[in-house]
Amino acid sequence: MSNPQHTPASLHAIDDAMLALFAREVAKYPADQAQSAVMACLQIVQKAHGWVSLESEKVIADYLGMPPIAVHEVTTFYNMYNQHPVGKFKLNVCTNLPCQLRDGVTALVHLEKKLGIKMGDTTTDGLFTLQQSECLGACADSPVMLVNDVTMCSFMSNDKLDQLIDGLRTASAGEAN
Ligand code: FES
Repeated sequence: MSNPQHTPASLHAIDDAMLALFAREVAKYPADQAQSAVMACLQIVQKAHGWVSLESEKVIADYLGMPPIAVHEVTTFYNMYNQHPVGKFKLNVCTNLPCQLRDGVTALVHLEKKLGIKMGDTTTDGLFTLQQSECLGACADSPVMLVNDVTMCSFMSNDKLDQLIDGLRTASAGEAN
């Protein structure tokens, strides 16, 4: 799983190394289609900072020659882009109908209680952020949740959720030692 860094907005500089990565992505497209690299550039920023600030969106927009609102539309359309600092483990819980019909509400309530936070919040230790997600394309495995944009957690029973959260806490503590 990825391990996002959490950089304060004041440190959201796009440095030369990142600009070089932007250039590499832009070079993959015809000269008049630099905007096609917008998702890759957003990913580069997020990898460096842990989230994408409005200031960073503006830099990308200027670099690619597109309106800032067009970059913001991409950032806000996809769950994988963090518009705020998030915890080390971002938990995207599907709240669409098929998941809700199969104990999704129970799973969400259990997670909120176990973590001591509400949807959209981050735990005080900075470990977990709970976010709402649209359909994750795994309705047959509902209720489902995505961890750090890559790891799908299917059939989320309370026991499975407890094991997952406890395991992530233990793994994180192990990394710190
Ligand atoms: Fe939850 Fe489709 S509704 S994965």
